[in-house]
Amino acid sequence: MAGVKRSVNIGVLGCGNVGAALINLVEDRADDIESRTGIRLEVTRVAVRSLSKERDVALPAKVFTTDADEVVDDPEVDLVVEVIGGIEPARELILRALGDGKAVVTANKELLANHGVELFGASDDAGVDLLFEAAVAGGIPIVRPLRESLVGEDVSRVMGIVNGTTNYILTKMTEEGWTYAEALAEAQSLGYAERDPTADVEGFDAGAKAAIIATIAFGQKVVAGDVSHEGISSITATDIDFARRLGYQIKLLALCDRLEDGSIAVRVHPTMVPDHHPLASVRDSFNAVFVEGDAVGDLMFFGRGAGGYPTASAVLGDVVDAAANLAKATHGSLGSFAKAKVRPIDDLHYRYYLNLEVADRPGVLAAVAGLFGKHGVSIRSMEQQSLETSDGSTPVVAGSGGLARLIFITHDAKEADVRATLHEFRDLDAVLDVGSVLRVVGSD
Ligand SMILES: NC(=O)c1ccc[n+]([C@@H]2O[C@H](COP(=O)([O-])OP(=O)(O)OC[C@H]3O[C@@H](n4cnc5c(N)ncnc54)[C@H](OP(=O)(O)O)[C@@H]3O)[C@@H](O)[C@H]2O)c1
Repeated sequence: MAGVKRSVNIGVLGCGNVGAALINLVEDRADDIESRTGIRLEVTRVAVRSLSKERDVALPAKVFTTDADEVVDDPEVDLVVEVIGGIEPARELILRALGDGKAVVTANKELLANHGVELFGASDDAGVDLLFEAAVAGGIPIVRPLRESLVGEDVSRVMGIVNGTTNYILTKMTEEGWTYAEALAEAQSLGYAERDPTADVEGFDAGAKAAIIATIAFGQKVVAGDVSHEGISSITATDIDFARRLGYQIKLLALCDRLEDGSIAVRVHPTMVPDHHPLASVRDSFNAVFVEGDAVGDLMFFGRGAGGYPTASAVLGDVVDAAANLAKATHGSLGSFAKAKVRPIDDLHYRYYLNLEVADRPGVLAAVAGLFGKHGVSIRSMEQQSLETSDGSTPVVAGSGGLARLIFITHDAKEADVRATLHEFRDLDAVLDVGSVLRVVGSD
């Protein structure tokens, strides 16, 4: 960009956590960005829902409007940043901006994971950028490395901790011995979790990010509906404790694999990660994305996956990139991807951690082992624990010596076979509870 001098006017849709931080960063960094790139950035219009709200930004009142159309349609605006969130009106506003030849930067994972194909098509048709670094892991640069730095790499797997709320909850359960409910309540009081935490704790948010990661990493279209997801709300202190004793940490992982036949596996679930794996050391609300490449080997990208300023930093990087492309009248295309052939989770193989509460009497272990054998699931290790009630006594179960917990780690097994085994466990009289089922990743 040396030698190119241009002013780029930015219209920002939304002035919440990310929008306000972006406006302040543009103000703070404009001189430096101009001296490095020759491009002068200025925020000239901002759309919000309410004009009366106090905002921590130094812009004149006349810049603000409650009519987002005014921002998108303003002929003086060259580039639109969408940080409203949600599907509509964000989708319609982005399509209008692109159609009008304006570059767009968005942080909206929900929108891209559901309507990415339509939006990227519109960006290509218009010949302008639609950039979205902040949509996957907030402040952590992962989209650009996957799209650009690693474009020559045969990436076989990308797995990430891409939801800070659930990582915070699991960290507190592991390190402080808190229950799930206690850790969630603390996450809510710190503002990490919404009052309705479903999108985070049930894996929807991570699923949307996994769809975007898989699309970029493997060059095939994956949408949110392709991603099977499980959350962390049924993880118990017992699971955490056993995982730790076995040398694992429980993490909510988004896993994206390119399989040997070219199909793609994308899923989100609580996962046992060996203590020595780099993802096991990612604590609190931090995020990390681990990439396995053929030539480069393993890479890990670590940092703040959310928060106004970290996210705005990634948005600003995209703004500078898109502004440079506008000055050169070019744009970066994602290319035209074919729809991915997505492998159902039932066909995938893992090692599993299974936790059963059983009547402690002769023949029970043999019956449980028989069902594993019947479905071709082979056991790698097993541990039995007598269970006591809270007053220290052994609970009385008709016809047995009390209760026991059986913990199994399997060898590699097919998901469908494990599910069939679990289904039959539930019909066994001696099995009183089938607890968590966790997949185990990484070598030990
Ligand atoms: N926060 C994060 O850490 C983070 C991280 C990664 C990605 N993201 C993504 O970034 C986006 C924004 O998140 P956020 O946390 O900044 O949200 P937020 O704090 O709720 O801010 C949303 C902003 O959009 C404005 N708005 C909503 N509907 C509007 C409409 N119809 N017209 C005009 N303005 C409208 C709101 O106006 P008022 O202020 O008047 O209510 C508010 O300023 C979302 O897509 C989110 O998923 C956020």
